[in-house]
Amino acid sequence: MDEILIKGNGPINGVINISGAKNAALPILAATILIPGKVDINNVPKIQDIESMYNLLQAMGVVISTSGESTVSTGSLLRKVEIDAQGVNKTEAPYDMVRKMRASILVLGPLLARFGSAKVSLPGGCAIGDRPVDIHLQALAAMGADIVIESGYITATAPHGLHGAIIYCPKVSVGATENIMMAASLASGTTIIQNAAQEPEISDLANFLRKAGAEIVGDGTRVITIQGVERLRSLRYTIMSDRIEAGTYAIAGAITGGSLRINNIDPKSLIAFLDVLQAMNICVDIGDNYFDIRTNGKLNAVHIETGAYPSFPTDLQAQIMALMCVAEGESILTEHIFENRMMHVSELKRMKANIELYGNKAIIHGSHNFKFGGAPVMATDLRASACLVLAGLAAEGRTLIRRVYHLDRGYELMQEKLKNCGASIERINEIA
Ligand code: UD1
Repeated sequence: MDEILIKGNGPINGVINISGAKNAALPILAATILIPGKVDINNVPKIQDIESMYNLLQAMGVVISTSGESTVSTGSLLRKVEIDAQGVNKTEAPYDMVRKMRASILVLGPLLARFGSAKVSLPGGCAIGDRPVDIHLQALAAMGADIVIESGYITATAPHGLHGAIIYCPKVSVGATENIMMAASLASGTTIIQNAAQEPEISDLANFLRKAGAEIVGDGTRVITIQGVERLRSLRYTIMSDRIEAGTYAIAGAITGGSLRINNIDPKSLIAFLDVLQAMNICVDIGDNYFDIRTNGKLNAVHIETGAYPSFPTDLQAQIMALMCVAEGESILTEHIFENRMMHVSELKRMKANIELYGNKAIIHGSHNFKFGGAPVMATDLRASACLVLAGLAAEGRTLIRRVYHLDRGYELMQEKLKNCGASIERINEIA
């Protein structure tokens, strides 16, 4: 099994080009099920979660062909995917596929809306928490679906099609908002989603669906209204860039005392994060499609709470914790989205970090003079793995990260992008 070896090598400087957003590409790929024709999508990153979504769609009879390569200088801008969901002949997402990638649940709404039936394995829990799908199911039931849960599978049927409904989400959920939006696009009548997620990836999906002929207004706000249409049509679309990848690399620059341009990213999608960097005494300059960060190495402690957009993203919580270790004073980090998303704490402590954990709250005792100690560590989930890479870049000695398949799920060309800016990072099969 592959491992990643990092040697702390001083400041990371240069330009990093951001790839297409995993969390926008996944729902958009699922949404192609709604369209009985050809769809061309650009800027799709070559990462494991996307490969898993291709496998799932292909198993249903969707025809997919990819072209163009991702590179350090272009990100995934040249990578294109051609998809044809005309001939879908199976409306099932089996356990073996869903367990590899929870976002498989996103095919439920589109299958039900276009074919009137779907059988999707229940995703179950995962490393960062329980992650139920009750909001997805209640919403689809309100739209007329008959839902039965049996033997670990959700079987949903709507032989006469879905109808519009007024849906209040008891909790802000990105995936549920996306599933409802997709299903409602082909339902009869009007659907109103209240307490909808406002993440930029929701608007990317809405833009995709609108371009295909859907009638959606209000995305980016707490209330989204969808007027169902009879049919969606073929289109060409370019996926937005990955704000979580951008945030991760900004921290790589800051934690090593470097200066970086994070390119091909809309800084407006990262305001809460960039605000925190500034509060930590990192200089941030924003442009139209990039931002620059630099630091004098004297970072301040901060208090952060994660929350639904536009609050600080849970997907950058683990990475910012690594940065807090080198900031002077006591930082407090509270996780509000997932109940078990602090597993990186014990690995950071193995790298000499001084962190106290009280349930969902971590107190990080940081210092300008603190140096992580390189150590063998274990990746536990995607963003926790990124946090360990960041600590490794700033560490004295060698850090060996195991279970790097977590990183492969969500970061395209990570070693190459960091190496290009001066990092010493290698992928190896065994300890050199
Ligand atoms: C998406 C992102 C993930 C990110 C998360 C929160 C994708 C593919 N993944 O995940 O990277 O960390 O948003 O920003 O876009 N919940 C329920 N019932 C439901 C659905 C959700 O209780 O039916 C809870 C979850 O357990 C969690 C919270 O709501 O506590 C938010 O989850 P949600 O926004 O749905 O996350 P995902 O869409 O799974």
